[in-house]
Amino acid sequence: MWKKSLALLFLFMLLLLAACGGDDQDTGGSTDDGGDSGSGDEDTVEIFSWWTGAGEEDGLLALIDLFEEKHPDITVENAAVAGGAGTNAKAVLATRMQGNDPPSTFQVHGGAELNESWVAADKMTPLNDFYEENELTDKFPEELLDLVSKDGDIYSVPVNIHRGNVLFYNMELFEENDIEVPTTLDEFVDVLEQLDSAGVVPLALGDKESWPATQIFENLLLATLGPNDYRGLWAGDVSFDDPRVVEAAEYFQTIIGYVNEDHASRNWQDAAQLVGGKEAAMTNMGDWAKGYFSNDLDLETNQDFGYFAFPGTTEDFMVITDTFGLPDGVENPDTVKEFLSVLASVEGQDAFNPLKGSIPARVDADTSKYDEYGTDTMEDFQNSNLTPSLAHGSAASEGFLTKINQEVNIFVTQQDVDQFIEKLKQAEGEL
Ligand code: GAL
Repeated sequence: MWKKSLALLFLFMLLLLAACGGDDQDTGGSTDDGGDSGSGDEDTVEIFSWWTGAGEEDGLLALIDLFEEKHPDITVENAAVAGGAGTNAKAVLATRMQGNDPPSTFQVHGGAELNESWVAADKMTPLNDFYEENELTDKFPEELLDLVSKDGDIYSVPVNIHRGNVLFYNMELFEENDIEVPTTLDEFVDVLEQLDSAGVVPLALGDKESWPATQIFENLLLATLGPNDYRGLWAGDVSFDDPRVVEAAEYFQTIIGYVNEDHASRNWQDAAQLVGGKEAAMTNMGDWAKGYFSNDLDLETNQDFGYFAFPGTTEDFMVITDTFGLPDGVENPDTVKEFLSVLASVEGQDAFNPLKGSIPARVDADTSKYDEYGTDTMEDFQNSNLTPSLAHGSAASEGFLTKINQEVNIFVTQQDVDQFIEKLKQAEGEL
């Protein structure tokens, strides 16, 4: 008899435990109350990103190591989905967010990608208190805080600043062919021609996913429009049939004539490899390529590979910032905030960025941790016109970007400037 009572008591306790954990599902709304669910998830933080594989994951893994060192009691689930610029991850994330199954925290670009998608849909928890408690408000450049804020509330924490208007080049090939670094678009075209005549592939492109080509086009737009009107394009103040947009498309057409023939079957790493292996002279890539050259290909900055601003944009800095926030409805917001505070710390940023190729988002990081590429880029960030990247989600909505990626893809194959401009003009409504 007493055995039966004990078994019943045990069953009752199990049911009670299950009931306590069970109400986590429908928390919804703000979870700022601490959301103490009592479930095992209290000890787990799931980090969602697209940083997996060569050139992508080293920084994240270093950050996770640091976090685990500081919080041995918390388990990290690295939920990275492969595919440059979030090609696949963004779709997986959208499904999860729509299904009310958010990761604990996820990679999202500051600007439209954060504010017009997740914040506008009321899916993010404001982090104003977190910023105050961690004394972070004056630790990031104002321009970055603007990118992660909407209507006076701050919604995520920037881990880095990448630059998108960079060309990386093979130094030996430049020397052997007597190439001077071009600073204008016309000089750039001359250099492409010079290399081509010498039998060298001038520009490596890997547009298996179309965003690396979109990235070239956005840099051309910045060069022909200048920073103010480039910004005006996204604000709807400059039209897509503006003669300078047409000029950018014409340069784009010319430049596409100088890329490797197999560009459509390569990704950005494969294209960077051509430059590293002396099979192509240059590649335009955000400076995660710097991380790839240094860590994966073991190349020396300013010996094996050099870098310069995309011609015509020498005074400008195409800003790409990877940020992490706190989605509404997560079960363990306090645990997530522990991760965000390591990511926001000087130590966290200096563990992540030297490996990632980016510069720290914080203004007070330790510059001695970065090589010459990093320190040059920090200086450029201070002295340049800052502009938001389209290809990396900051300048315009996801809907618009998806359309532009498709049109760029068609343009690269057909190279029809008039049709391209017409399609851009049609997409204007999606801005
Ligand atoms: C960008 C992201 C970078 C890098 C790159 C290539 O969108 O901001 O951190 O991961 O994609 O995947």
